[in-house]
Amino acid sequence: MSSPTSWTPQTWRDRAVAQSPAWPDPAHLARVEATLATKPPLVFAGEAHRLTEQLAQVEAGDAFLLQAGDCAESFDEGSADSIRDKLKVILQMSVALTYASGVPVIKVGRIAGQFAKPRSDPYEERNGVRLDSFRGHIVNGDRFDAASRRPDPDRLLTAYHQSVATLNLLRAFTKGGFAALSRVHAWNQEFVANSLEGKRYAMVADEIERALQFMKACGIDLHDDSALQGVDFYTSHEALILPYEQALTRRDSLTGDWYDCSAHMLWIGDRTRQLDGAHVEFLRGVANPIGLKVGPSVDVDELRRLIDVLNPDNVPGRLTLIARMGHERISRHLPSLIESTRDEGRRVLWTCDPMHGNTFLAAGGQKTRHFDQIMDEVSQFFSIHQALGTWPAGLHIELTGDDVTECLGGGSRLHEDDLDLNYTTICDPRLNATQSLDLAFYVAEFLRGFDLASGATSL
Ligand code: PEP
Ligand code: CO
Repeated sequence: MSSPTSWTPQTWRDRAVAQSPAWPDPAHLARVEATLATKPPLVFAGEAHRLTEQLAQVEAGDAFLLQAGDCAESFDEGSADSIRDKLKVILQMSVALTYASGVPVIKVGRIAGQFAKPRSDPYEERNGVRLDSFRGHIVNGDRFDAASRRPDPDRLLTAYHQSVATLNLLRAFTKGGFAALSRVHAWNQEFVANSLEGKRYAMVADEIERALQFMKACGIDLHDDSALQGVDFYTSHEALILPYEQALTRRDSLTGDWYDCSAHMLWIGDRTRQLDGAHVEFLRGVANPIGLKVGPSVDVDELRRLIDVLNPDNVPGRLTLIARMGHERISRHLPSLIESTRDEGRRVLWTCDPMHGNTFLAAGGQKTRHFDQIMDEVSQFFSIHQALGTWPAGLHIELTGDDVTECLGGGSRLHEDDLDLNYTTICDPRLNATQSLDLAFYVAEFLRGFDLASGATSL
C-alpha cells in the first residue's frame, strides 16, 4: 500500500480496476475525460464537508441516515415528475421516521449520478447470443443488441449533463418552497394517499400542520426558519467509473483537499472493494464522506485493513459501512464485524442495505425482493445493535416514487402474478412509494424503541 501522501487523482491507474468496461476506443475515452475536466463541479467542497459533519452527528447516535433512490438511474427517465416523486417519497419517509422517533434524518439520494452498475457476469447470453452485460447508462444501453451493449464514452458526458439537470431541480425543490414543512400533505401522492400507509401518513401530516399553526398563533414567524422552509438534501452514487470520477475531482482552494465533485457522497460497491484495487485507492484520497458496501464475504481482518486505508485518521462521519448481508446471513456475519469496530473505537457509521442480499428470481423470471425479507433483515439489524450497545445509523434503500410492481408484499400486498403490471426498473427491483412508506413506519417503531444506553456493553 502506498503512503497517503503519494495519492493523486490518478494513482488508481496503477491498480487493477475491477468491473471496468472494455472501452473499445481508449483515445475516445481520453478525449471525453479531457472535456469533463473542463466542466463545472456538480457539488461544492463545502457542501460535502457539511455532510461529513452531519454524518458525524449520526455516528454519535444523534441522527439517522436515510440513503435512498434508484438502483440505476436511466437516460430515458429524467423527467421533472419522476425526480419530484422520488423526492416526495424520501421526504415522506423522513417525516414518518422523525415524527415517531424524534430523531433527525439526514437525507442522501442515490440520485443525480447513480448510473453505473457492477455486474456479476461480464456477459449476458440469450438464445445462444452472447453480448456484453448492461453496465448502466453511463457505459452502454440496456437493449439486448450488439450496438446498444457496446461501451460508449460519450455516455459519460450525457451522464454528467443529466446529473446537472437533476441536481438543479433537486436544489430548486428542496430550497424553493416545495419541501417546506407546511406542504407536508402535498408529498402524499394520490395513489399512496388511498392506501393504509397513506392514511397513516395523512394523520401524521395533520398533526404536524396543527403544531405549525400553534407555533404561528404563538407569534413565531415560520417564514424565518430555514429548517421549516426547506431541507438539506445530498446526492450520492457508486464511484464505479473512475475516469468519470477523476475528471470531476477538484482541489478545494480553501483547504487544499481534493474533493470528488460529482456528488456529495460516493460509495465503493461490494464487488470493487479490493484492498489493493483501484476503487479503494481512488476514494481513500478524496475528502468527501464515503461509503463502503460490506457483504457476507468480508471478515474482521479485511474490514480492519479497509478502514485503516479509508479512514486512517478516524474522522467521525467520514466512513459509512453499508451492511448488505441478506436476511439469512446477517445474524451470522454482522455481529463480529460491529463488535470489532466498536472495540477498536472506530468512528464509523453502520447502516443497513436490506436490498442487495435479498434478491431472487420470481417464477416468471423477474428479479424481485420480498418486503417481509427486507423487513426481517432490518429488524435483525436493529436487534444486533441493541445487543451490542451500538447505534443503528441508517438505512440504504432502492426505491422509486412511482407505483411500480417490482418487490413483493408490503403495503400494496404485491403478489408474483402482479410483477408484470408495472415492472420498469433497468436493474434491481425497487420498493414503490407505498412500500417505502410502509418500511419507514416500521423502522420508525424500531428507532423509537431503541435504547442506546441499555446495550450489553457500552462504549
Ligand atoms: C447497488 O447498491 O446498487 C449495488 C450494486 O450494491 P452492492 O455493491 O452492495 O452489490
Ligand atoms: Co441495486
